[in-house]
Amino acid sequence: RAPIAIVAAMHEELGALLALMPDEQRVRVPGRDFWVGHLHGQPVVAVLSRIGKVAAAITATVLLERFGVRAIVFTGVAGGLAPGVNVGDVVVATQLLQHDLDASPIFPKYEVPLMGLSRFAADATMADALAAVAETTLRDPVALLGQEAVDEFGLRSPRVHRGLLVSGDRFVSTTAESAALQRALPDALAVEMEGASVAQVCHDYGVPFAAMRTISDRADDAAHGDFSRFVVAVASRYSLALVDAWLAS
Ligand code: ADE
Repeated sequence: RAPIAIVAAMHEELGALLALMPDEQRVRVPGRDFWVGHLHGQPVVAVLSRIGKVAAAITATVLLERFGVRAIVFTGVAGGLAPGVNVGDVVVATQLLQHDLDASPIFPKYEVPLMGLSRFAADATMADALAAVAETTLRDPVALLGQEAVDEFGLRSPRVHRGLLVSGDRFVSTTAESAALQRALPDALAVEMEGASVAQVCHDYGVPFAAMRTISDRADDAAHGDFSRFVVAVASRYSLALVDAWLAS
């Protein structure tokens, strides 16, 4: 059976899951390490894409060409855009778009030239399953993370949002840029730097894709690079709990 790929941009986002892969075999491809193994008896390839759309697209292509994966799931963190998408919540993408792609006036803004598409659909079956598993698995943050982390980050039981996830080669860290994104794309729930490029590769190959992100910041003036403690203490645990429960289901 062909493996499922589990991808995150940075080690902090996937460390908890990588530590759990018992029969890990590390395959080195220039620029990246691929962990080939099993979780709940299912063949899995886990990999860190590195940050940004190009790095993520290369990773997806290697996963498809060299490892023959049958599906790709991207996980990690994102900045919340829409009102009510708060730190500690979870977003499961139903659609993905590259917010920094603009070949107008030759092509409509956001449209991938010559594809006639700006929004790539996530695989509905995987997205539904991940959202359903998130609703139950992540209900009790104290059980998953411990009281200390819950207090430190003021967490509640995460709300699981479903909808548009936007990607671009920018860490959005000003209230002005976040507001501009919300005006331009009012249904965008959250912003990150990889998902939509992987969705485009998977669309070309006809392979199912899904993305689940924990909200680490609100993509505003308070969203600086110093979030690694949140990523390690919260987001990587949520990713592990969710992927683990999903693969077991
Ligand atoms: N990933 C997490 N937070 C982000 C932000 N504010 N902008 C882009 N990518 C992110």
